[in-house]
Order: sequence, then C-alpha cells, then structure tokens
Amino acid sequence: MKATMTLDKEFKIGEIDDRIYGSFIEHLGRAVYGGIYEPDHPEADEQGFRQDVIELVKQLKVPLVRYPGGNFVSGYNWEDGVGPVAERPRRLDLAWRTTETNEIGTNEFMDWAKKVNAEVNMAVNLGTRGIDAARNLVEYCNHTSGSYWSDLRIKHGYKEPHKIKTWCLGNEMDGPWQIGHRTADEYGRIAAETAKAMKWVDPSIELVACGSSNRLMPTFAEWEATVLEHTYDHVEFISLHTYYGNRDEDLANYLAQSLDMDQFIYSVISIADYIKAKKRSKKTINLSFDEWNVWFHSNEADKKIEPWSVAPPQLEDIYTFEDALLVGSMLISLLKRADRVKIACLAQLVNVIAPIMTENGGQAWTQTIFYPYMHASVFGRGVALHALVSSPKYDSKDFTDVPYLDTVSVYNEESETVTIFAVNKHQTDVLSLDADVRSFEGYRVVEHIILEHDEVKATNQHNRTNVVPHNNGDAKVDGGKLEANLPKLSWNVIRLA
Ligand code: AHR
Repeated sequence: MKATMTLDKEFKIGEIDDRIYGSFIEHLGRAVYGGIYEPDHPEADEQGFRQDVIELVKQLKVPLVRYPGGNFVSGYNWEDGVGPVAERPRRLDLAWRTTETNEIGTNEFMDWAKKVNAEVNMAVNLGTRGIDAARNLVEYCNHTSGSYWSDLRIKHGYKEPHKIKTWCLGNEMDGPWQIGHRTADEYGRIAAETAKAMKWVDPSIELVACGSSNRLMPTFAEWEATVLEHTYDHVEFISLHTYYGNRDEDLANYLAQSLDMDQFIYSVISIADYIKAKKRSKKTINLSFDEWNVWFHSNEADKKIEPWSVAPPQLEDIYTFEDALLVGSMLISLLKRADRVKIACLAQLVNVIAPIMTENGGQAWTQTIFYPYMHASVFGRGVALHALVSSPKYDSKDFTDVPYLDTVSVYNEESETVTIFAVNKHQTDVLSLDADVRSFEGYRVVEHIILEHDEVKATNQHNRTNVVPHNNGDAKVDGGKLEANLPKLSWNVIRLA
C-alpha cells in the first residue's frame, strides 16, 4: 500500500501556540491526592509533591495545566482552599460524590505548576457561584497588593502575584449533569458579565467561554452561536470537549473517530466566524479544545465507588496500544487546525484518564498514550504545515473515506527541523510513504521513531512497560524525496534536520 505527499515550507497552516500541548488536573479521584501530592511517599518533596511524578510531567513538557475542574469547579468555593490548611473545611463534592479535604488549593497548585514549568489555565465556578467569586479570585491571584484579596494572598505567604493569564468561564454548562446547568442564554449572559468584571480587575487575562460538552449534545451549534452572541466582545476562546472509546470492539471505526474531531473543530470555527460576520467584528475567536482523550475503560468500575470517600480511584482507564494510536490521530487533528486551535488540554494528566499513573506509596509509570503526547509536545513546536496527501481510504460503520494515512508536519524555522507525525490505520499492511521534500534542501532523517505492537490490547502496567517506542524506522531522504515504511497500525515520528 502506497501513499504520497508533498511538503513545502511555504504551505503554512499557522503558528502553533505552545498551549495546544496543555493538560488538565481536576480535584477528582487520585489526580491530586495520591497523584501529584502524597506527603507520606518516599519521593515527596518538602511540600508533599511527588518528585517522580514531577519528573514524568517534565518529560511531557506540558506548557499549561487546566485546574481545578472539570465538573468539580461548578461546586467549588476557591476560598476553602487558601489560608492555613488546618482551618480548611472538608466539603462534599457533588460532582463526583466524594469528600474534598481542601489540603491542596490555589497557592499550592501554583507552586506545583512552577515545579513542572507549566502555566495554569484557571477555571472559575459559574455553577453555584458567579461574578463576585470570580472577580475576587482574579484579584487574589493577579493583583499586586493594596486590596483586600491581594493582601490576603500576601498574608497567606505569596508576596508575588501568580499572574495567571488563561481563565475558563465555568465548565460544560450545557450539560444537565453540571451543578448549576444553564440554558445557552442564561450562561451567555452570566459569562459575559463575569468576563467584564474579571477583565476590569486584570485587563491582561484571556478568557475561554464554554462551548458544548461534545458534538452530540442536542444543543450543539445553537449553544455556541447563542453563547458567542452574548460573549463575543469579552472572550478570546470558545471551548470544545470530546472523549472517544472502542465500546463496540470495532477498531476500524474506533480509529476513524479523529474524523469526528476534525468535523467538530471545523463546525465550531464556522459558528464562531458566523457570529463574527453577524457582528461585523474584526475580532476572531479561537478554539480551546480543553478536554480531549479516550475515556471508556473505567466506566463500569466507577459505578462501584463508595460515596463520599476521599480520593478513591476514579476514571482510572488503563490504556491499550490502540488507544495510543487514536490519541496520536487526535493530536494530528488539533495540529491540522493550529491556525485556530490555540489551546488544547489532554484530559487529564495523572491517574484520572491519564498518561501518568501512580501507585499509592509505590511507583509512577507511563501509559501507552504518554508516548504520542510526549512526541508531539517535544517535537511539535513551530509552524504546522499543510501536506498535499494522497492516501488509500476505507469505510467503517460510521465513516466513509477514512484515509489510512493520518499525518501533519511541523516546521521549526529557528532550529531548522521538520517533524512528520503519521499514523498508519491499516490493520494488516505496511504503508510505504513517498514524500516530496525538495523545499527542505539538504535535510536528512535524524530519526524515525515508531510506536507499534502485535497486540492491539497491549497495555503498560506498574513494573511492566510493554508498549514503548523504538527508533528503528527506515525513513530516508534522497534527492529531495523521503521514503519511509510505516508499519501496520503504527504511530510514526520522522524527524528531519
Ligand atoms: O475529565 C473528566 C470530566 O469530563 C470533567 O470533569 C468534565 O468536564 C467532563 O465531563
């Protein structure tokens, strides 16, 4: 099976915003307690943060971490999580039916983010709360001093403001499961008024309005249009969320779901631009795909969680090799619209539908999906390039014309490197790729990394890293032509310099 493509440094899709490689830590399950924070663990630092986890997060070069939710944020009082820990209340978290101890809150999380070299994408509660709590949080975090909330932060031991740039106006407010679920008009109004007040406190911040929780929501499209009607002048981004799963054991159809993600992205761009046209606005609203991943393995186990327990194992999907392929394709989907998708968050980062897992008191380890995410984040900085691709295609239960070759390339002008990310979705055949790379004169293959496995259901586990990439790919460049064999069902990273 053969595919061809032409790459040219002038075929630019757009500058990739580093925040496209963001992730997410929610107060949920063992993400915080037992994940990033475990004071009794032998690897814990002076603040109780696990250094083995910090090291793995650093390997991923995560630039941005969304916090503290997720559904959790819609019932969260941020004031519960600041000040002397001994005085912080224990609260029922209605979103996940657990007990929140509030041992970790805004300041501790900001410290952790600094340790992993990440910025924070802070979400405010527009479920049970509103304008007042949100503007106070901005003042607490970003105002230098001389006001009630900024001086309280200083009293809590944080002299310097946190200078948080990116903020989410609530979470999944279109979902009936959300605490304080609203109609699009209700949400649009409160989001616009909250945005105004937050920016009056700190005009330098950027705001994300909630889009739909997924493309199948009955209110999808109308929701985005209505919310943007209200918020267009006050926000920079509209959010998208999606999770996929291979529930029917249909691999061809499962891997084709990145086409659904493409369609979702194109639709939201169209809606945002429709409102732009309606408003005769010069401003462009970009996309924040601030929750995306595979999520389905843990659904049954999560029904058995003891209500109101503290940090139980929730949403602990153990990912297979085939999941890593879809995650690779989803990364490609994001990069193919890097001109408009400026923020994206792999949901989530530790223990909860995560690339990094921990054992309480034991080791931290990497799931299969860790690898495509790491490769994209480490090698995918620069400008996304359009490739003219010709690939054989297949049809599946829900999709037609699914290209076996899924690919995008990233050019870094400064380091003079090009990285081709490619997934071969064929279940039995090698895909031989011929690429015209004449515009990259003198470039040679630095390495061809491949993630492949004979068993599509192979997983990594504590003490058993089974699905790992190798760099024995055969890509080579000769006379402006790149040739590479992409093994059946494989994730490929071909680096040229
Ligand atoms: O990431 C897990 C959950 O998925 C989040 O809390 C919520 O926003 C979404 O439904």
